[in-house]
Amino acid sequence: MSRASLPADDRTILVTGGAGYIGSHTAVALLERGHHVVIADNLANSSSQAVDAISRLTGKPLGFAQVDLTDLEATNDLFTSFPIDAVIHFAGLKAVGESVEHPLRYYRTNVLSMMNVLDAMATHEVFELVVSSSATVYGDPEMVPIPEDAPTGATNPYGRTKLMIEQMCGDLALTDPRWRITLLRYFNPAGAHPSGDLGEDPTGIPANLVPFVMQVAVGRRPQVQVFGTDYATPDGTGVRDYIHVIDLALGHVAALHRPDNGCKTYNLGTGTGASVLDVIRVAGHVSGVDIPYEVTERRAGDVAVSLADPTLANRELGWRADRTLEMVLRDAWRWQSRHPNGFND
Ligand code: NAD
Ligand code: WQD
Repeated sequence: MSRASLPADDRTILVTGGAGYIGSHTAVALLERGHHVVIADNLANSSSQAVDAISRLTGKPLGFAQVDLTDLEATNDLFTSFPIDAVIHFAGLKAVGESVEHPLRYYRTNVLSMMNVLDAMATHEVFELVVSSSATVYGDPEMVPIPEDAPTGATNPYGRTKLMIEQMCGDLALTDPRWRITLLRYFNPAGAHPSGDLGEDPTGIPANLVPFVMQVAVGRRPQVQVFGTDYATPDGTGVRDYIHVIDLALGHVAALHRPDNGCKTYNLGTGTGASVLDVIRVAGHVSGVDIPYEVTERRAGDVAVSLADPTLANRELGWRADRTLEMVLRDAWRWQSRHPNGFND
C-alpha cells in the first residue's frame, strides 16, 4: 500500500509526549491526514508553545492535557475525557548519559508510563498502539545495515527501558488477539518542519550532533567537538543513519494503517550513512557558515557505524524515508536561524 492510497481516517489519536520533538511533528502529520489529535504531556522536556505551533501550522484545533503518565488515575481519565481510538506513545526521557546517573528516574518514567498507558488502554478496550523504541536496543551491532531480527543488547539504562517496554508490549499482545502494537525503532532523528516554526528545542547542552552543530552555526556555541577520528569508517568519524523527522512522523501515520494484529517491530531509518564530518560539511553548505570544529577523544559507549535496514517497513507499512541529509540540515537550519533560542524566540 503506498502512502497516497491510504484510506481516509478521522480516528482520534492520543499522542503521549506530543509536545516533544518527534511527537509534535507527528501530531502535525496526523492532523494533516484528517485525524483528531489529543496530546498528553507533562511538559517535563517541552513547552506548550509547541502545541500552539501545531495548531497554527495545521489550522486545526487539537486537545491538550497536561498529565504525568506515571499517574495511573490521570492516565485512565484521558480515556474517559476523550473518545480515543488509538494511541501513539512518545512520552519518556531520552538522554543516555542522564540515564546512567539517574537510572531509577528512567525506569520510573519510561517503564511505569508505558505500563500505565497499556493498563488504561486495556481497561477502556482501546487496542491499537504505536510505540517509540530506538536503535539503541541493538547495542554495538554485529552487522550493518541492521535488520529487526539482529540481536539486541542495550548498553545503558535508557536502552534497557526501551527493551523492557518492547518486552511488555510483546507479552501483553499475547493475552488478547485484538491488540495491534507496532514498535518503531528509530535511528537518528533530525531536522525540523520545513516551515521553520517547529523543531527540536533541547534544554541545556545538546547531546546530539545535529542540534549541537546548529547551535554552533547560529553562534550560540564556539565549535563542534568531533568525538574521535579513529573509527573504522571512511573518514574515521562515526557513521549514522540520520532520518528526517517528517519522514519519521509519516512512519507513525503508516503504522496506524498496519493491517494485521499482534505485536510487530520495524526499523525506521534511511539505510544510508553519514559521518560526523559529512554532517559538519553539509551543515556549513546549507547555512553558509564555516563551522569550526576540534577533534577530541571518543565518547564512551559510541559505536562506529549504526545503519538501519528499513526493508520491512518499506514492504509491510508501505513507508520509506525519502528526505536526504541535505534536506534534514536545511530544515534544521531554517528552524535554528528563525528561532535561535528555540520556542523562546
Ligand atoms: P522529547 O523529550 O522531545 O519528547 C518526549 C516528551 O515526553 C516530552 O514532551 C516530555 O515532556 C514528555 N514526557 C516525559 N515524561 C513524561 C511523563 N511522565 N508524562 C507525560 N509526558 C512526559 O523527545 P523526542 O526526541 O521527541 O522522543 C520521543 C520518543 O522517541 C521518546 O520515547 C524517545 O525515547 C524516543 N526516541 C528518540 C530519539 C531521538 O533521538 N530524539 C531516538 C530514538 C527514540
Ligand atoms: C551521532 C554521531 C557521535 C555529538 C543517540 C542515542 C540513541 C538515539 C539517538 C534515543 C556519533 C558524534 C555527537 C557531538 C560528535 N536516541 N558526535 N560530537 O549517539 O548515534 O544516538 O541519539 O533513542 O539512543 O544514543 O547520536 O547525535 O549523539 O551522535 O562527534 O557533539 O556524532 O560520536 O558518532 P547517537 P548523536
